[in-house]
Order: sequence, then structure tokens, then C-alpha cells
Amino acid sequence: MANGQKPDPCSFIIFGVTGDLAHRLVIPALYNLAATNLLPEKFCIVGVARKGMSSTELTDSLMKGLRQFATRKVDEALAKRLLECVTCIEADPKDPSSFDHLKAQLERLEVARTTGGNRLFYLATPPGAFAPIARELGRVGLLKEQDGAWRRLVVEKPFGTDLASAKALNSELQKLMDEHQIYRIDHYLGKETVQNILVLRFANGMFEPIWNRNHIDHIQITVDEKLGVGHRGSFYDSTGALRDMVPNHLFQLLSLVAMEPPIRFDAHSVRSEKADVLAAIQTQSEQEALHNSVRGQYRGGRIGDTEIEDYRKTEDVKAGSTTETYAALKLTIDNWRWAGVPFYLRTGKALGIKRTEIAIKFKQAPFAMFRDTPIDRLSQNYLVISTEPTEGIELQFNTKVPGPSINIDGVEMKFRYKDYFKAEPATGYETLIYDCMIGDNILFQRADSVEAGWQAVQPFLNAWHNAGAKGLKIYDAGTEGPEEADELLAHDGRSWRKLT
Ligand code: BG6
Repeated sequence: MANGQKPDPCSFIIFGVTGDLAHRLVIPALYNLAATNLLPEKFCIVGVARKGMSSTELTDSLMKGLRQFATRKVDEALAKRLLECVTCIEADPKDPSSFDHLKAQLERLEVARTTGGNRLFYLATPPGAFAPIARELGRVGLLKEQDGAWRRLVVEKPFGTDLASAKALNSELQKLMDEHQIYRIDHYLGKETVQNILVLRFANGMFEPIWNRNHIDHIQITVDEKLGVGHRGSFYDSTGALRDMVPNHLFQLLSLVAMEPPIRFDAHSVRSEKADVLAAIQTQSEQEALHNSVRGQYRGGRIGDTEIEDYRKTEDVKAGSTTETYAALKLTIDNWRWAGVPFYLRTGKALGIKRTEIAIKFKQAPFAMFRDTPIDRLSQNYLVISTEPTEGIELQFNTKVPGPSINIDGVEMKFRYKDYFKAEPATGYETLIYDCMIGDNILFQRADSVEAGWQAVQPFLNAWHNAGAKGLKIYDAGTEGPEEADELLAHDGRSWRKLT
């Protein structure tokens, strides 16, 4: 994680530079790094595009994107300085000779810009292009670390579409380079509150002693979104809520909250503990997966002032699509800490509230000694770590209502980041990009974690695929999702935390 040192000189090579991700997040993040003096002294940006585009055209387009998506006021002089080092090079894996040309041009640039041959390749492309690009980079020798120069490859999500394809992609990349050169990015790890989970757990003496099956009843992880699928119909319809969110974003949250304490705060120790806890998620049979899950799809409705159309009427979505836009799962972790503690996960689109949180529900006090307050009337003890709509942590507990008699009510103690720390709004990619440049991969996913994540969701993917339309619940946009998700917890005598 960022420590303020200046990164080595390097070239930052973006594949898919004409796309949304590069314009909306990568360049604004580089700009924020420039504004905080965290870019290398010697630095250049190379944009790789498939269709012919001049460097000037690319610079203009990135500048336009920056003005639109910057998270802070754009200082024109700084933006100009950052983008004047942009060079556009044409390369397409379908035309191998274009990669020989890319290599020659890059080597010339490296001499001119004195970047010392350090290269960061950022694959901001559709996932189908990851392996073909890496293969070509490997073939022309651009990935080989030599003469003290580093070569790193950043791979965006989705990393595979199931266990088999993730394994195949890992094995392909590992043939071309060493694991330490691969940076599998998950933007959830760029969020402050997500990074703070480790600090909350391991830098405070009061939480860890009760962070186990003796004191915790269950854990809920929620990532609810208000937006529908919008213009991403084609991607989303072949992906669905489970693949899009669970093995990556929700499992990042789960692994940080459930992992064992690492022996050191270094990439190897932290990533090993994260991989271990994901590998300990019980692999369910298809039958169990059906029993322990709910999937839904939204139909039209109203969210605030916005009219949302039926998912099935969205552009590029198949008319009779059975793709889920909502998923709720019950998982268990087979280890000593978590035996018997269910983890309930839910995520969906076009819901009434945007909320991302981890709610840790503690066991009830064993006995309510207060007259007229039976145990079931006590309010629930939750510790809630949230990133949306506000970043912070809250604790819910019982207190006495003022007055002569003993009446008990639930109250909340709230910590909000913004009340304590003044931070410039950021894209969430700054820390991640900076960490790649200084060679710290603690916040990136290792091959074994990715595979353990897919392994845990594979039974759900199989079961839902085989069930087709059967079992798909339709919910109205703007609601909390299908009612069956409540039943998933009600079977266990539990309920979802009320979202506000
Ligand atoms: C992306 C998914 O990875 O994460 C999107 O593809 C989703 O479908 C997004 O909307 C959610 O990210 P955040 O940071 O808004 O919670």
C-alpha cells in the first residue's frame, strides 16, 4: 500500500486506451497521482489502439475524458504536462507483426524518455483480449525482466468466466511470466474502507478476541445498486450478477473480514491468508447450492425520478433472458474460527437503495435480566462496515431509555471517514496503480485466490445454468429484490439487516 516513495522511472502502456475504463478511471487516477507528486520523474504513457489514431488525437480524447471524469479541479498546466508524454501506437494481436513494431517503437521511446526499460502493461480491454495480448507481448520478449528492469502486467476483471477458464488463463499467463509480474486488479481493494478492514481487525485489541464463532452469530455482505444494466446489456447478459460481483468484489470483502491474522503485513503473508480462507469455503453440491441461493431478475419500475425498463427489454439483452440481476447466497467456511457461522451474501441491480456493507451480527446476550424485556425484544448487536453511501463503521447496541423505569432501546454509534479525515475525492484506482509502479502486490489477487473464488461459486453457476428459467424470481425495480431472499435467512431464524 502507498508509502509515499517515488516510483522508478517507467513506461505506462495502456491496451484499450480508446475505451471507457482508460478515459473514466485510469487517466484521472494518473492525474491524481501527478497532482500529489506520486508519479515517477521519468515517465511516459503509451496508448495502444487497434485502429489508426494519431498521438495528438489520442491526447485530445484523453484530455476531454479527464475534464469530464476528474475527481478534483483540473489544473490545465499539470494535465498538459501529464498528457504531453502520450504516444499512440497501433497494435492488434491478430496481426503479430504489429507487436514487433510496438516493441521497436517502445524501445526507442524508452531511450528518448530515459525510463530505464521498466514497463507496466495495463490491459483495459475486453477479457477476451487478455491472453492474446499477453501471448504477443511474451513472443516479442517485452515481458522478460532483464538488466534490472521490471515488467508488470495489470489484468482487469473479469478474470475468467468460471473455474476452468480462470485456471486456463492463469496457466497461460504463468507460462509467459512469473506470478510476481501479474497484477490482477479488483477495484474494491482500492477503496479506503475496504483497506481499513485489516486495520480495524488487527490494529485494535478489542475486536479480534470476539471475532469468531463463540461471539459472532453470522455475517451479511451486501452490495446493492440502484442502477440498472444500462448500456452494458451485451456484457451483462452473458455474465449475470453472480459472475460480475461475487467471486471478485464480494469475496474480497469476505476474505478480509474472515481471514486469519497474517504473521506479517507483507504481500506473501496477507495474500496467503486470503487464499486460505477462500479455499475453506465449503464446496456445495448442486442440490445444496439451489437450496442455499436465490436469483432474481428485475422488471421495470421507478427509482426516484428514474424510470427503469424491464431487464429483458434492455438493448443487447436476449428477449427471454434468464440471466440473474440479483443473487443471494448462503456460504459456510470450514475452519475452526467460522464453523457454524453462516455468511449471507447478496447483490443486485435496480434496487431501491445503493448500499455496500458488511454487517457482523453478534450473538444475543445469553439472558435478559431486565424486567419486562425478554431476550427477543433486545435490539440486535451489529458492527457494520460500510463503503456506500458513506464510508464508515457503526456499532448497534442496547441502551436504557431515560426515565424512572428500565426500558431498553437500540442505538447506533457512528464513525464516518469524512468527519475525521479530509481526503480529496479519488477514483479508487490511485493506490492500485501506484502500488503496481512500486512493485507492491499486496492489494492484488494471486492466482490461487482467484481459483478458490471460482471454485466456491461454481456449484451455483452449474445449478442455475441447469435450472434455466425455473427458480428465477422476478422483482420490481426499486424494491429490495425478490422476497425469497428473506426466506433464505428466515429458514435459519434470521433476517437481513434493514437497509436505510
Ligand atoms: C463492476 C461491475 O466491477 O463493479 C459493475 O462490473 C458494478 O456491474 C461495479 O456496478 C460496482 O462497483 P462500485 O465501486 O460502484 O460498487
